[in-house]
Amino acid sequence: MDPIQIAVVGVGGWGKNLARNFHQLPDANLRYVCDLDQGKLDALARQLPGTQLTRDYDMVLRDPLVQAVVVATPAPRHHATCKAALEAGKDVFVEKPFTLQIAHAEELILLAEKGKRVLMVGHLLEYHPVVTRLREMIGREDLGKLHYIYSQRVNLGTVRTDENALWNFAPHDISVIMFLLGVAPTDVAARGQCYLQPGVEDVVFLTMNFDGKAMAHVHVSWLDPHKIRKLTLVGNRKMAVFDDLEATEKLRIYDKGAQISQDYNTFAEYVGLRFGDITMPYIKVSEPLQIECRHFLDCVRTRKQPLSDGQDGLRVVKVLDAAQRSLRRNGEPVVLA
Ligand SMILES: NC(=O)c1ccc[n+]([C@@H]2O[C@H](COP(=O)([O-])OP(=O)(O)OC[C@H]3O[C@@H](n4cnc5c(N)ncnc54)[C@H](O)[C@@H]3O)[C@@H](O)[C@H]2O)c1
Repeated sequence: MDPIQIAVVGVGGWGKNLARNFHQLPDANLRYVCDLDQGKLDALARQLPGTQLTRDYDMVLRDPLVQAVVVATPAPRHHATCKAALEAGKDVFVEKPFTLQIAHAEELILLAEKGKRVLMVGHLLEYHPVVTRLREMIGREDLGKLHYIYSQRVNLGTVRTDENALWNFAPHDISVIMFLLGVAPTDVAARGQCYLQPGVEDVVFLTMNFDGKAMAHVHVSWLDPHKIRKLTLVGNRKMAVFDDLEATEKLRIYDKGAQISQDYNTFAEYVGLRFGDITMPYIKVSEPLQIECRHFLDCVRTRKQPLSDGQDGLRVVKVLDAAQRSLRRNGEPVVLA
């Protein structure tokens, strides 16, 4: 089988990881990398033998051999870059956040449908082996009914100028929480603050409510002394913690819980606490980015719908949009249509 001909557009901090993966995967041929910044291209020249390096995106799109375009430009460029690729008849993998506007996401979905193109959004965590395991466990109700989920994605890191911490970090948390719960929130509320630049929130606290009493909280920041990438799930049977910064033992299951007794004499008997074992399931942790890239190639080859398709991207953009409106109204809850 001939390898799939790929072009990666935007090879900054993240795009170069995508370029490396597509260059290494046997099912792909990284035909082009494209970036406006010649310095970025020069820096990659030695690592990507056989790949053409160009600043000319139109040339990439005009090449009939290019089957798929991988977009890792800054978020404000996603819509235009994806639109041009879809109109040129290419399949598209675009980094998160899918777009900055709901209408733009809808337009791209329609374009992909009309042209029968694959459209995938880089919701990386949906491809993480620990998340795959958690979803299986939730499907089997190992944790029982999920009460609530909270996540922290904080560090002292790259400060963006063109998007706030919500749009930059929270797509990961929002996508994974919806992926695990299997539904979108009914309403969201977000509060945050701009310390470094006017109008760009450095820290955001987002709360989401779901039908059936489940709730989730997301804390994102690039202005924090800790580096934390942690997701905690509390079910009525068990609890789970996914710590992505652990080298190997990334998932811990706590056989802990609390139960209200119908038959009691004292308050201590009324609420029964259970402290059971803490287990760490063995999960072979392969690079999630490589799993994600393989999945895209598989979708291009077999024309199947990606796990994180345009609709999935749109659902996340709708939550981000509602959260942004709440941020502007100082945390007032916003109901999702
Ligand atoms: N999945 C993840 O975990 C993850 C992690 C980091 C970043 N990202 C996403 O990847 C994207 C890029 O982020 P980054 O940190 O690499 O940004 P970056 O600013 O480091 O790199 C962006 C690159 O795009 C180039 N560029 C800008 N406009 C272009 C255009 N019109 N044509 C060609 N090249 C263009 C820039 O020159 C730059 O090299 C963002 O959407 C970001 O949210 C995803």
